[in-house]
Amino acid sequence: MSLLTTIGLMSGTSLDGIDAALIRTDGRERVEAGAFLTLPYPDGLRDRLRACLGGRGPLAEIAAVERDLTLAHAEAVRALLAMAGLAPNAVDLIGFHGHTISHAPDQHLTWQIGDGAGLAALTGIAVINDFRSADVAAGGQGAPLVPLYHRALAAGLERPLALLNIGGVSNVTWLGAGAEDVLAFDTGPGNALIDDWVWRHTGLRYDESGTLAAAGRIDETVLAALLAQPYFRQPAPKSLDRDAFDPAPVAGLSVEDGTATLTAFTAAAIAAARPLLPAPPLRWLVTGGGRLNTTLMAMLKARLGVAVEPVDDQGWSGDALEAQAFGYLAVRSLRDLPLSLPSTTGAPHPVRGGRLHRP
Ligand SMILES: Nc1ncnc2c1ncn2[C@@H]1O[C@H](COP(=O)(O)OP(=O)(O)O)[C@@H](O)[C@H]1O
Ligand SMILES: [Mg+2]
Repeated sequence: MSLLTTIGLMSGTSLDGIDAALIRTDGRERVEAGAFLTLPYPDGLRDRLRACLGGRGPLAEIAAVERDLTLAHAEAVRALLAMAGLAPNAVDLIGFHGHTISHAPDQHLTWQIGDGAGLAALTGIAVINDFRSADVAAGGQGAPLVPLYHRALAAGLERPLALLNIGGVSNVTWLGAGAEDVLAFDTGPGNALIDDWVWRHTGLRYDESGTLAAAGRIDETVLAALLAQPYFRQPAPKSLDRDAFDPAPVAGLSVEDGTATLTAFTAAAIAAARPLLPAPPLRWLVTGGGRLNTTLMAMLKARLGVAVEPVDDQGWSGDALEAQAFGYLAVRSLRDLPLSLPSTTGAPHPVRGGRLHRP
């Protein structure tokens, strides 16, 4: 099948900005990664977006945030095209994830804001958005959706293999020997709880390289309280909202000890995923911003007992990978290929999804 040139756009739960990635792909095994950038949200939009989380806030404000978010995505597309020296008509398709403001699949609800028709009009490029709702309507979790892209990337690597994405929340993709041997689910917290804690106590956006966590002591009692939540023992597939975990047990700790304990929480929740996997992975390849947290990576190595490596060691980009995934999924959507499997979202059958908006 022919390759299409696409731009994948992701506005992640960490609220750090918009990721834009060029990728050429057939939507199956062939993938050629191109230029990538992250556009921080314009002034004020991050806070307005945060205020919409949970679907809270006046509808008129959610609509205004959606419009401004769409404008910011158009700006990210413009900047990426300039960086790559491409004209809009050199791009076949945009995969526009939007921003998740509410995710409760068990109530048949998942809500990503982002105006697909608006972005198509602003860029002059066909857009696919609304990737998750068909899966949720079919009875799936609607998440994670990156696993089929992980499978395409990892086609040549030895199995069993785990790909771990540490974004605002963390999700794992387990790949076994056969093409259909894919299991995926959200493991629990990623960076969001750490970010929120560090922001509240220091005014910094995140714990750069995990230095605060490295200076603190893990409070084992608090950690045990955090891990008592039943989510970690639930069978897969399963998925999470950004704010599914209550960090209240950490409240009394010092800044460093709280950061260390929340970082250990993320690592322990990931280790708790192991018994849910069909066979132990030979190694774990880590993507997403959390791979840059050295303390978290060291905790993961200690708890998992096998190699834990950033995906960058494979020649992939851990910053761009999730945005690339939505470019890849856009091509799959256009070609009527499923975006999910029963073992990645829990839907009763492989589900196609996405909605096409022509400019
Ligand atoms: N140098 C770094 N050191 C530690 N943590 C980092 C670093 N760079 C990014 N991060 C973490 O990664 C997060 C962004 O991760 P990302 O993969 O973009 O998540 P999302 O998909 O949820 O947006 C930041 O909020 C921060 O917590
Ligand atoms: Mg991000």
